[in-house]
Amino acid sequence: MTATAAYMDRAGLLADELNIDLVAGETISDSEYADCMILRMDNEGLALLRDGMTIRGDFSQMKKRLNPANLNHEMLVKAAKLKDMSNNPVLVDATAGLGEDSILLAAAGFHVKMFERDCIIAALLQDALDRAAEDAQLISIVERMELVKEDSIAAMNRADFTADVVYLDPMFPARSKSGLIKKKFQLLQQIESPCEEGEILVNAARQLKPKKIVIKRPLKGEYLSAVKPNYSIEGRAIRYDCLI
Ligand SMILES: C[S@@+](CC[C@H](N)C(=O)[O-])C[C@H]1O[C@@H](n2cnc3c(N)ncnc32)[C@H](O)[C@@H]1O
Repeated sequence: MTATAAYMDRAGLLADELNIDLVAGETISDSEYADCMILRMDNEGLALLRDGMTIRGDFSQMKKRLNPANLNHEMLVKAAKLKDMSNNPVLVDATAGLGEDSILLAAAGFHVKMFERDCIIAALLQDALDRAAEDAQLISIVERMELVKEDSIAAMNRADFTADVVYLDPMFPARSKSGLIKKKFQLLQQIESPCEEGEILVNAARQLKPKKIVIKRPLKGEYLSAVKPNYSIEGRAIRYDCLI
């Protein structure tokens, strides 16, 4: 981890939490850290770097999509929305990642409980939430987003909370042509392997007895569980399978 002086305290706390080395300084030499993943904290927030690729959680670039007029055209919102959206129904995002789907769902009116089990991805997401909480256009949305840094399968099996909707977006199977995958996902795939516990995830989601389970899949991908969805909403490359 590298850090400018202004961010030393926060960087130090995070390095302790993740049990990784802290490197203070303004620049990173590529050759010195060639085989490493680096978390960098600077005035743009926290970023993960490797092999010339960078990812960070960033909700500020999503403002156009979060506009109420655009939101109802989002396939995910169409798939997840309930007839009665009054009183902010609870949606559990069991595979939160960098929270881009979660923030769409929070903007649509859900209270979103996000589970992320990878500590580095969770740190990037937490940083995006903290920065959004200081943005007047985003604060009212991120106030409805709660991050739990835990495996959602264990949490949902305990069933000591309720959910109106559960959303699942586990990592898709790796594509053979890596050029087809955005750089962001190439880096994420170095941290998180494709999901092999689809059925377990769906069964855990059922423990919460939600009104609906929504599952994001590649358009031609297999169903995540043996149970056929009640209906699917299809786009050009992905589809949302809905179990009610
Ligand atoms: C494809 S990404 C999700 C992307 C997310 N929908 C977004 O909009 O950014 C899958 C994420 O789910 C997380 N994940 C997978 N299984 C999980 C589990 N059982 N509990 C918590 N997180 C999980 C992975 O660590 C990864 O960050």
